Amino acid sequence: MKFYITTPIYYVNGAPHIGHAYTTVAADVLARWKRLEGHDVFFLTGTDEHGQKVEKAAAAAGLDPQSFTDRVAEQFREMTAWMGASNDDFIRTTEPRHKRACAALWQRLAERGEIYLGEYQGWYAVRDEAFYAESELVKGSDGALLAPSGAPVEWVREPSYFFRLSAWQDRLLAFYDAHPEFMAPLSRRNEVVNFVKSGLQDLSISRTSFRWGVPVPGDPGHVMYVWVDALTNYITAAGFPDEGAARWEFWPADLHLVGKDIIRFHAVYWPALLMAAGIAPPKRVFANGWWTVEGEKMSKSLGNVIDPHELVSRYGLDAVRYFLLREIPFGNDGSLSHRALVTRMNDELANDLGNLAQRSLSLLARHCAASLPAVSAPTVEDEVFLAAASALPARVAEALDRVAFSEALEEVWKIVRAANAYIDHQAPWALRRTDPPRMAAVLRVLADGLRIIATVLQPFMPGSMARMLDQLGVPAGARDLAALGAPLAAGTELPAPQALFPRFVEDAA
Ligand code: MSP
Repeated sequence: MKFYITTPIYYVNGAPHIGHAYTTVAADVLARWKRLEGHDVFFLTGTDEHGQKVEKAAAAAGLDPQSFTDRVAEQFREMTAWMGASNDDFIRTTEPRHKRACAALWQRLAERGEIYLGEYQGWYAVRDEAFYAESELVKGSDGALLAPSGAPVEWVREPSYFFRLSAWQDRLLAFYDAHPEFMAPLSRRNEVVNFVKSGLQDLSISRTSFRWGVPVPGDPGHVMYVWVDALTNYITAAGFPDEGAARWEFWPADLHLVGKDIIRFHAVYWPALLMAAGIAPPKRVFANGWWTVEGEKMSKSLGNVIDPHELVSRYGLDAVRYFLLREIPFGNDGSLSHRALVTRMNDELANDLGNLAQRSLSLLARHCAASLPAVSAPTVEDEVFLAAASALPARVAEALDRVAFSEALEEVWKIVRAANAYIDHQAPWALRRTDPPRMAAVLRVLADGLRIIATVLQPFMPGSMARMLDQLGVPAGARDLAALGAPLAAGTELPAPQALFPRFVEDAA
């Protein structure tokens, strides 16, 4: 089965920060999980490079927009690699393939009578790259009008092409009704449905007051509204307009992961544009919450913007990936704090999981001649533990299908805790003297449990779980979920155990 998952494409007006890395990691975990399940996965990420916001940032940096975007896009590509993302493609909206897809989508909409030329008069927030109705605006402390996001707005009046969005209101509502799974979490779904019910205006989809964008076919005085250009990236990468391309089999996308601030674009404009062009809308849009830092909003002026690279250098990639998805339910806001991260690292990774693996593997190394013991007739305790562990992949799958990362990890930790209770109760270190065959049997149960745990955790912590599977003697080609059906051969040689998760020790300073 095909599975197509995307991150938002990130604006290149500034360097990547942890908010960007977050969605990239979340999408990566799902992509890796779907591969473990045996799906044919296409995982897309990339950069959103047009529009006024980027044009202004380039001017502020004293560069032409193309050189500027080349430079910043490279930083995003590096961030993707730093976060361990296994993306299959990285799209930049300044690429020729993308401009071609935008032009093709535009032409289809025009041919179908969905676009007309008019004049836009209204409010625009460059920071959000969004048009706002006057009724949506709020007053700032100095009395100036602001977007609901707090972004400054300016009055715009210029010739513009419009998309007949208002005509899609009822069809969108019918679409949401027919596909309750299309938007999540529920709070965002309600927000979007209320927005659509409150009445849709036609959408201004071109600008004439600046040049940094994809030219409108047949009318190069206009550039496309950056959101129309940006959303199109998801079909560009799937090969559009070449619907015979092998990649096109991935469309419609299974899941767009987006931040809560951009759900409206993905859940209203995007399906309407696609349906209007006769293209299937995506299957699901899931909105994640926002991170604050030690409880404060991240901002350049507060100087608390977290560079993902620094975070990874300090705590390690797998600990950061684990923390981001474990700390808060996906969809909620959360605070990134040093203390919370260190607590998770030390209590859950180093103690719960690291010690369990270390204790089991070092007993196997020392007292089982570093080879995997045979499976023996199970006791009731063995059966209870192994039955719970065997049920784990299905539980993780169920949680991840709901995009509930923290619940998936909680399911894993139930088994980690059960394994710790099992080892403490069985005390294989004592059995060494009293009943060596039983010691071997217990260590084999633990090895089998650890194998399941490490297998399902690979998407979250690919590096450390690969090392754990190495140490358990699991062949590189037998690490997907299907492979769990076949027991490991008794006598498999086990490499010398190494610590998997270092404790984080505060600097003495
Ligand atoms: N370019 C658009 C998306 C176009 S998708 C067709 C955009 N870019 S962005 O760089 O501003 O934001 C990208 C993503 O980062 C958004 O999903 C946004 O919600 C997310 N985040 C930005 N700051 C964040 C936090 N502090 N915390 C979590 N996510 C954050 O919007």
